[in-house]
Formats: sequence, structure tokens, C-alpha cells
Amino acid sequence: MSLKEYEFQLNDGTSLPPVGMGTVHMQGAKGVTSLVQAIDRGYRLIDTSTNYNNEGMVGEAIRRSSVPREELIISSKLPGAAHDYDKAILMIQESLYRIGIDYFDKYLIHWPLPKQGKFTEAWQGLVDAQKFGLIKTIGVSNFLEEHLDQIISETGVTPATNQIERHPYFNNKELVQVNEERGIITEAWSPLGREINDVLTNDTLRSIADKYGKSVAQVILRWNYENNVLTVAKASNPVHQKANLDLFDFSLSEEDKEHIDSLDQGEDGRLQGQHPNEYEEFD
Ligand SMILES: NC(=O)c1ccc[n+]([C@@H]2O[C@H](COP(=O)([O-])OP(=O)(O)OC[C@H]3O[C@@H](n4cnc5c(N)ncnc54)[C@H](OP(=O)(O)O)[C@@H]3O)[C@@H](O)[C@H]2O)c1
Repeated sequence: MSLKEYEFQLNDGTSLPPVGMGTVHMQGAKGVTSLVQAIDRGYRLIDTSTNYNNEGMVGEAIRRSSVPREELIISSKLPGAAHDYDKAILMIQESLYRIGIDYFDKYLIHWPLPKQGKFTEAWQGLVDAQKFGLIKTIGVSNFLEEHLDQIISETGVTPATNQIERHPYFNNKELVQVNEERGIITEAWSPLGREINDVLTNDTLRSIADKYGKSVAQVILRWNYENNVLTVAKASNPVHQKANLDLFDFSLSEEDKEHIDSLDQGEDGRLQGQHPNEYEEFD
């Protein structure tokens, strides 16, 4: 399955497939097998992070897959402990060594950690790492409007993507709009609720899915695509991997999209209460 014709255009002139592979909890030999399978099946965008403790697995899967390195889009994330210009550059280099590649296609600041107050310095690190040829596309994750505006005004560089929590119980619509107004592509993390919430067995979603002869997961991923939101669902199961690429032979009615939007529970819908102004993660 090729995703080429459905790509999203980024503000830096590059493009990304609308669906990537998440890798939380994919580790070791089992992780390598799952990821190689995903790449061979058609996934090109691989979403990892230093925090997932699996950059080694990602590197091994890249080497074992049948797809050339240059066709893959490898994306990792800067940990909180490296919110400092010099540490950011060193971290990016270390991450590249761990994976065994010499550039990132995409690299994000994982969390803004506004209480630390150093995300602009970290962002300057990514901006310069891009100039040094270490990264092709730079972006952020979990940045709110004020964080985005601060880095844009202080460095003059707008992120290409902002990866944020988004699933039907927490659709984060205002932040998706904020991104769009700044020309930033939204990426949705935990789009399927990571087995923490019951979104995959929700009755409303089930009846919409039945109508189109699709699964709930496919309807959620399609709802994102139709809202110009890229998704990075994680799937180890080959049946899930295949299904999550099979999104382009149907489209949702406006009414069904509104029904999905109406499932939003506001702040209560967050999976683990990780508000970006409060949540801190340093690894
Ligand atoms: N930037 C951030 O702060 C941040 C935070 C969280 C996550 N992320 C990224 O987002 C990715 C996705 O989020 P996530 O891993 O938390 O959760 P998720 O993608 O919402 O859910 C993953 C779960 O859904 C199952 N699944 C996948 N496709 C399915 C299908 N078609 N039908 C039924 N079940 C299906 C998977 O099962 P199997 O594995 O058994 O197939 C797995 O248990 C992460 O892996 C990570 O890359 C980023």
C-alpha cells in the first residue's frame, strides 16, 4: 500500500504520509519483528522517542527491512533533560548514533515543560541542528498556543508539525485550529486511546463504522485524515497494521464527523491528565 498520493504538505516544503507507525512499548526482538513487518507492509513514517527506550530497535528494523533508508521517515523526540542548546545538539547526535543513521527526517521537542522555561533554547538547538544537516524537518509536541507563539517570535522559525493528544474523547479541536492558523500540521498521538479508554468499543463509533463496513479504528483514523490531521497509531498486530492503512476507499459524511466531534469530553477526556503546562518528563 503506497501512501504517496495522500501526503500532507508541510510549511518547510517537505511532505509526510497521513499515517505513521507509533512505537510506544515496541522494544527488543519482538519490536524489531513488528516494525519490519509494518515497514514491509507500507508504513514509512516511524515515530519514536528517546523516552521510549527503543531507538536501538528502530535502527535494527531499518537495517532489516527491505525498504531503503532514504524512503523511510524516521522521527524522534528531544527529552526534557536536554532542554538546553548544547545538550539538545548532543542528544540529537546521540540519538542518531543509537539508531545508526546520520540524519533524522523529523525531530520534535517532546514536551514544552514551561515550568523549566527552556523550550525556546531547545528549539534553537533544533533550528541549528537542521542547519547542520542533522534533521530535515523540525517540529514540536504537546505545545500549546503560547508555547508556539513564543518560539516563533523568538527564533523566527515556525515548527512544521505539532504532535498532540487527540482521540474522540479529547479531540483537542482548538489546538488543532491554532496549529492550522500557523501553517503547522497536527499529528495525533494515542489516536485509538491506547487501551486506556474505551473508544474502540464506543457505541456511536461502532454504528458509524458498521455503516461504512469499516472498523472503529479505521473510522477514527479517517476522521483525522479528513480533518488534515496526521495519525501515529501504534499497531504490533499485523491485522491492525494492515487495517490502519486501509482508509482511502471511503469518506465520512459531515453528519458522522459531527457525531464523532460530539464525543469530546473536554479536559476529562485526556487519557492520563497530561496537561502540557503541568506534565513534566525528563528522560
Ligand atoms: N508525543 C507524545 O507525547 C506522545 C504520547 C503518547 C504517544 N505518542 C505516540 O503516539 C503513538 C500512538 O499512541 P499509543 O501507542 O499511546 O496508542 P494508540 O495508537 O492510540 O493505541 C495503540 C493500541 O491500539 C491497538 N490497535 C492498533 N490498531 C488497531 C486496530 N485497527 N483495531 C484495534 N486495535 C488497534 C494496538 O494494538 P496492537 O499493538 O496489539 O496492534 C495498541 O494496543 C505512540 O506509539 C507514540 O509513537 C506520542
